[in-house]
Amino acid sequence: MAVLEIIKMGHPTLRQVAALYPVEDIGSADFNTLVSDMRETMYAAGGLGLAAPQVDVPYRIAVIDIPETGTRYGDVPALPFAVYVNPVITVLDEETAGYWEGCLSVPGMMGYVERPQHIRVDYLNAQGESRSLEATGFTATVFQHEFDHLFGTLYVDRIRDLRQFVYEEEYRLFHADEEEMSDF
Ligand code: NI
Repeated sequence: MAVLEIIKMGHPTLRQVAALYPVEDIGSADFNTLVSDMRETMYAAGGLGLAAPQVDVPYRIAVIDIPETGTRYGDVPALPFAVYVNPVITVLDEETAGYWEGCLSVPGMMGYVERPQHIRVDYLNAQGESRSLEATGFTATVFQHEFDHLFGTLYVDRIRDLRQFVYEEEYRLFHADEEEMSDF
């Protein structure tokens, strides 16, 4: 296992549409190494999620782990560590809500982004099995942020009012009591 380098905004890989991961390679030694390295990298960086393009691997794989904190992220249900291969999001309710988002590929910055809050996710798990889940609220935001990375989109593209794109330090000083924040 290894902690990989997380590439930052400006690196062209973050702007590519990642390729579908070959289903027959799920569970291979390369796949397992990549997933365990992504997991270790995500934990080392203190993120809730990490997408393969963020470690310069242009395939549609993401890992997410929302811990049971109950503090920094407010009242958010935990989501155990899982791998999502070739995920597809379907919006079930267009109504949006906003959160302050951060991203390991845009270190030191925060931005306020509104996204739909009820989605379905269809994906393959680490065993290559088709799975489907519904997500609401903050969890729905995390999935959308993470899977945006698989299509060359960063949360900064979705900030409607750039006055709500701020340095993390200033966020803590001036905005922290407005909304929840998160790093992913
Ligand atoms: Ni991100």
